[in-house]
Amino acid sequence: MDPAMRLETVASLCNLSPEEASLMAKESPLPISQAKSIIENVITTLEIPLGIATNFLINGKDYLIPMAVEESSIVAACSYAAKLARNTGGFSAKATDSLMIGQIQIIGVDDFDQFRKKILSLKDRIMVEANTRSETLRKSGAGAKDLQVREFPNESMVILHLIVDVMDAMGANVVNTMCEHVSRIIEAETGHSTNLRILSNLSDLRIAEAQATFRKEDVGGEAVVNRIMQAYSMSVIDPYRAATHNKGIMNGIDAVLVATMNDWRAIEAGAHSFASRDGYRSLTHYAVNGEGNLTVSIRIPMAVGTVGGATSSIPKARVIRKILGVSNAKEFACVLASVGLAQNFAAVRALASEGIQKGHMTLHSKNIAMSAGARDEEIDEISRLMIKEGNISVSRARTMLGELRKK
Ligand code: MEV
Repeated sequence: MDPAMRLETVASLCNLSPEEASLMAKESPLPISQAKSIIENVITTLEIPLGIATNFLINGKDYLIPMAVEESSIVAACSYAAKLARNTGGFSAKATDSLMIGQIQIIGVDDFDQFRKKILSLKDRIMVEANTRSETLRKSGAGAKDLQVREFPNESMVILHLIVDVMDAMGANVVNTMCEHVSRIIEAETGHSTNLRILSNLSDLRIAEAQATFRKEDVGGEAVVNRIMQAYSMSVIDPYRAATHNKGIMNGIDAVLVATMNDWRAIEAGAHSFASRDGYRSLTHYAVNGEGNLTVSIRIPMAVGTVGGATSSIPKARVIRKILGVSNAKEFACVLASVGLAQNFAAVRALASEGIQKGHMTLHSKNIAMSAGARDEEIDEISRLMIKEGNISVSRARTMLGELRKK
């Protein structure tokens, strides 16, 4: 399909209204007048390709996954892995409640026993006060849930953790507001001053998990399964490999976060700090089951929201969310974990069999043709010729372009 036909298909599958479909077809639907209210010192807007990853079956539901990214082969790799996962029922995924951690730093503490007792005697009041900052959360039975005291005697420092159920929000704003608010009570009641009051991006109480099984015959047979297991061991024992392995996971997750205008830096920070708990290692886990098939799972912090943030202020983002079709933060977290798993499996499978460059360069060949100056139909033609010849490079594309234009 060409992009217009794809959009037509997505619009009909996702019940987009004619207005929504034409907004998606527009090349620059974010007016500068609006962009300048979103960030500071705006001079223009920046376009990035948005593609749809297909074949995703997660907890029995079909999804079309919007992905915005500049790197070729990510959308294809995800769709490919999701297609293989369908053969065994797709992805099963779950997410915890949306518990975020707000940190309050208290400095100059010398009597830790006395301080802890005082804080614990104030705990109920702190909870009640924190919950005055969000009527919506409080009314829904969510909001501040717990207060934990962490002591650092060498630094004369106490770090309080305010645990907040933020439901369908990403939660940064409400958590930061609560922390700033209750710190005034803490200062007044304990006589100690507070310093930082900010959420932690190590959201290890807000975790998404996904699992999928890939049949050995779909993967390339027992030998490839064994090579994949060897590749996986490398990402457990070697942080140099783990970084690249986890980068592959984030290739998928970030692309969905960018498409839906979520804070991908927060998820990156959470993912990598979580991966470093016992020395930096893989966020996915690979195992071979009794039938010799490959079972891949992922556990990853997933502080994402379906309400608030830029999602509501950028018009296209609203339609993109409609295409994705998630109705709450937990469902969204399940989708993101599944996409990360899919992306990682596709990369590791390719690396452990034919190597990554064959598929990647084939898909990247159109970018190369464009870098060499090819336009319109020339792009496909140069790409096709380079793939046929097995020589995919800008210099070869330039030569081919010169010859093509002479004809
Ligand atoms: C490239 O963007 C991502 C990979 O390097 C991931 C990996 O090595 O697992 C292919």
